[in-house]
Amino acid sequence: MDDISIRPWLETDSAVELTELLHRAYARLAAMNLRFWATHQSAEVTEQRIASGECFVAVADGAICGTILFRNASRTSGSPWYDRPDVASFGQFAVEPGLQSHGLGRRLVAHVEARAAASGARELALDTAEPATHLIEWYTRLGYRFIEHAQWQHTNYRSIVLSKTLGSRPAE
Ligand SMILES: CC(C)(COP(=O)(O)OP(=O)(O)OC[C@H]1O[C@@H](n2cnc3c(N)ncnc32)[C@H](O)[C@@H]1OP(=O)(O)O)[C@@H](O)C(=O)NCCC(=O)NCCS
Repeated sequence: MDDISIRPWLETDSAVELTELLHRAYARLAAMNLRFWATHQSAEVTEQRIASGECFVAVADGAICGTILFRNASRTSGSPWYDRPDVASFGQFAVEPGLQSHGLGRRLVAHVEARAAASGARELALDTAEPATHLIEWYTRLGYRFIEHAQWQHTNYRSIVLSKTLGSRPAE
């Protein structure tokens, strides 16, 4: 795990490969009949989502093995909590299945928490499927708390919005 680095997405990275990674990682959620975007989205949608925020990737031996998408407060909207001016968010979050449960997901979240604090946000939020209790429990262990329910048009489940108060504001 120590030889895995986290860096911003590069124009030369492959959206097709990232999409395949998302599909592999989200297969467990698809098997639960939870139709997250990342269970089935096309490479074009992956590119659109990357363009809607700041994408970070985890790289091992030159291959992308994890990803997370950060949106600053001005690019976070769509629910009462997301519409607040001090709330940033993350999504499109995945770790290669064979590398899960070794702390990389936690590292990616910590990376985005630092990015969110540097952007001036006071809260970092995310949404996930209400039936995905294993994820809700995991985010809760990382310090995220329940905020509100949400129903997006494109999902077949009710979502919950979770959020964490960031430790400190950036130095002026
Ligand atoms: C959610 C996801 C990104 C988490 O990534 P991950 O790399 O498995 O996460 P971590 O390894 O940091 O943590 C998972 C658990 O693994 C175990 N774990 C973490 N580090 C460990 C280590 N060094 N040794 C052994 N076990 C460890 C722990 O049980 C940990 O839970 P904890 O942090 O509460 O202790 C990943 O499971 C995934 O891609 N899931 C499918 C897509 C998905 O659900 N995305 C989120 C949608 S909202």
